[in-house]
Amino acid sequence: MNVLVVGSGGREHALAWKLAQSPRADRVFVAPGNAGTAQDAENVDIPADDIERLIKFAKENKVALTVVGPEAPLCAGISDAFAAEGLRVFGPSHDAAQLEGSKVFCKKLLRRADVPTADYRSFRTAESAITYLQERESGSVVVKADGLAAGKGVMVCDTKDEAVEAVKRIFHQREFGAAGDQLIIEERLEGQEASLLAITDGRTLVTLPAAQDHKPAFDGDRGPNTGGMGAYCPAPLVDEKLFSHIEEQVLVPTIHAMKRSRFPFRGVLYAGLMITAQGPKVLEYNVRFGDPECQPLLMRLRGDLLDVLEAAVDVRLDELPDLEWDPRPAVCVVMASEGYPGEYEKGRPIRGLDEAAKLDDVKVFHAGTATLDDQVITDGGRVLGVTALGESVAAAKLQAYKAVKCIRWDGAWCRKDISDKAIASS
Ligand code: AMP
Ligand code: GLY
Repeated sequence: MNVLVVGSGGREHALAWKLAQSPRADRVFVAPGNAGTAQDAENVDIPADDIERLIKFAKENKVALTVVGPEAPLCAGISDAFAAEGLRVFGPSHDAAQLEGSKVFCKKLLRRADVPTADYRSFRTAESAITYLQERESGSVVVKADGLAAGKGVMVCDTKDEAVEAVKRIFHQREFGAAGDQLIIEERLEGQEASLLAITDGRTLVTLPAAQDHKPAFDGDRGPNTGGMGAYCPAPLVDEKLFSHIEEQVLVPTIHAMKRSRFPFRGVLYAGLMITAQGPKVLEYNVRFGDPECQPLLMRLRGDLLDVLEAAVDVRLDELPDLEWDPRPAVCVVMASEGYPGEYEKGRPIRGLDEAAKLDDVKVFHAGTATLDDQVITDGGRVLGVTALGESVAAAKLQAYKAVKCIRWDGAWCRKDISDKAIASS
């Protein structure tokens, strides 16, 4: 069968690479893809948000399953549009995707489902938000724009002044556009973060091993937030007991509440969690695989991803045998462009990819890359996700950085401490 992956980042490269390994996959297309997906699959020159053209392409090329990578097309209703044309698609409906598309929707659902999360209030005006802040004892809060803001709409504040400034950026400066029509102010939680992702058909959950992202730009979790500078899997922070606790107290009640609210959730439910002294609390939900968490996760998956995603679409995950995982941990180090997450230049030639590819247990997933005259060039802020397996997290880290050392371009940089938290705890 033919498969279409929608998106162009490291996550989509990992999805296409894994799906292409399925004995049942004939052609794997990626729209629009990057230089890496062009090697492991076939790129299609259609942007991820051009739903009409994607549908036309899927019909003309006998695509039997479409897998949607990023949140924007999901929140725009790509799954509903495909389903209305009789096309099979992996990813939640427009309404179910509001779990990520609207923080107010998400918080209300969590409250209804009695899922632990930070206390919050929502606001539609700067005046009411600022009055609320001034009446509070502490300024230690988190201010979040309601809608999609590419991870930038969340401001963790130490003081009331900072929180007031965050409110003004959202409502007065309109920095996040319509995503800032509402905001929430929530209690600031302390603890370590972990991501738990589950594939679900709305009835059955298949929870994947826990992963951990590294959102701040610089070593030691300093600097501005990014899309994620690296990830590892499994995360030793989430032991068996905590894993079951999160499944039972967080994921299952969420799926039930979505069903009761008539927004049955099908796709990847990604819980971003803070492991606090009072137990795990949900920071946010995403409605798709994490990027870069997807890269180390799929590096460890031994079974056929196509089988799993198809079973989810066909609502028969309960018939699927347990997934098999490589027992070895995987570490993914993101190599980024000079200047990222601020402004950066594109078009710099990348060297050493062939050398890195020769290393054992290494896969270099492309994120922001393109091809120009047979040369791979940089084409985004996060450029590559260099991923390796190892007998221990420390060994996987060593191998990933060995591969990083092979790769060069003008201004390339990465964090040097990806997975150190896991190494310290083991
Ligand atoms: P979110 O997009 O909601 O996951 O927020 C992005 C990042 O902001 C998270 O990964 C956390 O590091 C931080 N964050 C969000 N909400 C809170 C909170 N209530 N307390 C502390 N940190 C938070
Ligand atoms: N790695 C965080 C995200 O995918 O949202």
